[in-house]
Amino acid sequence: MFKINDNYQKLPGSYLFSTIAKKVAAFTEANPDKAVIRLGIGDVTQPLTAPVISALHAAVDEMADGATFHGYAPDLGYAFLRETIAENDFRSRGCDIGADEIFVSDGAKCDSGNIQELFAADSRIAVCDPVYPVYVDSNVMAGRAGTYDAATGYWSNVIYMPCTEANGFVADLPKERPDIIYLCFPNNPTGAAITKTQLQMWVDYARKEGCVIIYDAAYEAYISEDNVPHSIYECEGARECAIEIRSFSKNAGFTGVRLGYTVVPKDLMCGEASLRDMWARRHGTKYNGAPYIIQRAGAACYTEEGRASIMGLVEYYMENAKTIYDGLKKMGYTVYGGVNSPYIWLKTIDGMSSWDFFDYLLERANVVGTPGSGFGPNGEGFFRLTAFGTHENSKAALERIAKL
Ligand SMILES: Cc1ncc(COP(=O)(O)O)c(C=O)c1O
Repeated sequence: MFKINDNYQKLPGSYLFSTIAKKVAAFTEANPDKAVIRLGIGDVTQPLTAPVISALHAAVDEMADGATFHGYAPDLGYAFLRETIAENDFRSRGCDIGADEIFVSDGAKCDSGNIQELFAADSRIAVCDPVYPVYVDSNVMAGRAGTYDAATGYWSNVIYMPCTEANGFVADLPKERPDIIYLCFPNNPTGAAITKTQLQMWVDYARKEGCVIIYDAAYEAYISEDNVPHSIYECEGARECAIEIRSFSKNAGFTGVRLGYTVVPKDLMCGEASLRDMWARRHGTKYNGAPYIIQRAGAACYTEEGRASIMGLVEYYMENAKTIYDGLKKMGYTVYGGVNSPYIWLKTIDGMSSWDFFDYLLERANVVGTPGSGFGPNGEGFFRLTAFGTHENSKAALERIAKL
């Protein structure tokens, strides 16, 4: 008999959002007359912007003509997009990143799940708690996490870095030395941002201890405060210790068309081994490139018109964030996030558990959010609402919650 990768058997239950979807489906089936407002999953609601749609149409027309048709894309991404990204997302901010250090992909989820392949099987990872589940689960699948303790919700071989009210949801340096550190700022789920001084401390630590930082900046576009870095490469020495992951999902609304990229600088070395070359090798072997039409749409996000349109999307969602944040605060809730991030992280009331609060909101207000405990034990007692709904839904959800 063949054997399976037993590590998959270790994964507890189903993915957080599948559990939520099942609960919501059961509720709507039992209550067909109730209109549920979904502020749970971080999916966007606004259509792609006009410059992106024009670029898509033009690229589709190119595909219809033998003279301009495109087959397989270069596995690392088209030069027109990689150059544009290097210039606009990095060099314009003073970050020394070249086009040949940018790897275009079909999204940040794949990259943040796949990047662990570059590291030794016995590497120790450190994650924030609570955390975007992909970092831990992908390391579980690779056999790095040890054993799961259902009572505590922790894996034996993972170093957890608590993100709490006390530290402003920005983790302190770990007490034990990890090999790989996952950081995500602006943060999903807490909505917290990191200052440049704080991030520099992490870079200094990683260089001193010989760690690599996987920096997930999927929500970079939502940064509104000046002291918050847009890229880890704004920090001195980050080229030697950090990989950065970006997405077109949350800024440009590409969740349904799929585009992202990862930056692996040439200075990131392990002895003689270049991680940039390893990631290029991996892409060459396992990936055939994001579609031409989508990469054209991605490039359209960087034109003057494109930038303005995307800023409009971000402003739209941030207006929701303000509605939710201010509204909850007025009702007496303890609320975090929502300033440099489209996520609002609130404390449940009356000491309710995160899942009890989920049921309470679903049944009494017909509003869906995400239980904080689904992101890790330190998320217990918290709840995440997203600003990715429509203005109408965000306002209606708040009105319903106010009536509870
Ligand atoms: C922190 C973080 N990283 C990555 C992703 C996935 O982004 P993408 O749509 O590019 O796969 C998400 C999506 O919710 C996220 O919250």
